Amino acid sequence: MIILDGKKLADKIRNELKAEVKMFDHVGLAVILVGDDDASRLYVSMKKKACEEAGIESFEIKLPSTVTEHELIAEVEKLNINNKVDGILVQLPLPKHINTAKIISVIDPKKDVDGFHHVNIGSLVAGMEDNCFVSCTPLGVIKLLEEYNIDPKGKNSVVVGASNIVGKPMASLLLNRNSTVDICHIYTQDLKSHTINADIIIVAVGKANLITADMIKNDAIVIDVGINKLPNGKIVGDVDFDEVSTKASYITPVPGGVGPMTIAMLLSNTVKSAKMRLSK
Ligand code: GUN
Repeated sequence: MIILDGKKLADKIRNELKAEVKMFDHVGLAVILVGDDDASRLYVSMKKKACEEAGIESFEIKLPSTVTEHELIAEVEKLNINNKVDGILVQLPLPKHINTAKIISVIDPKKDVDGFHHVNIGSLVAGMEDNCFVSCTPLGVIKLLEEYNIDPKGKNSVVVGASNIVGKPMASLLLNRNSTVDICHIYTQDLKSHTINADIIIVAVGKANLITADMIKNDAIVIDVGINKLPNGKIVGDVDFDEVSTKASYITPVPGGVGPMTIAMLLSNTVKSAKMRLSK
């Protein structure tokens, strides 16, 4: 069994990006944080720190949870026309009174480094990955597979979780690489009947120990996108790592697997945006 070391690859990519950023006049990422959700605050501070280390200027726009949809749209529109800003990220989730899809649709697709805008999603599904932004977590999973020379072509892949952020773009990326893809979700009746046939299983649900050893075949490649905090404070993924790792051929740890790759891909998308701006 081989551990897919996301931390090591993310560090390598971040160092390469740092060298690349030096060749630009300026690269900037704006992050909008609405409210004071602890997890969101933590993610935003990690993104900010990663930007600083890479030489990317970060702009943080903090808004209260009472902000109106109208006010939030006005903030996004300001960033759309700000020449210092190559990437715009609205940290999710947003408060319930705000229509998330509407806000995302206002972001200039050329600055949508999260890859959430329908124009970018359309390009991804149409197989035009080079000319669009792809959601950072699934893109990070693909880079990690590539690093270990794992080609999804012809393999049975099962994606567990069908979110717009991870599951759906993950499935498109795998399909674009000629994998046979199952997408499972909360209404899937017999999850094991799918996972047991998977050469590659990617789990992004947010439920500790959802995937147990009896659910996977020998030598499966297991990618765990989950981040869960147990009552004892331990951080674990969605996969029962101790058991599943004895059967898998490759597996990502939590922490240190997919998580670090997500941030590396955010920086990579921001640099891509700066490159696209200059090549125009
Ligand atoms: N919330 C959880 N994951 C993400 C992400 O990748 N991007 C944004 N903007 N919000 C998130």
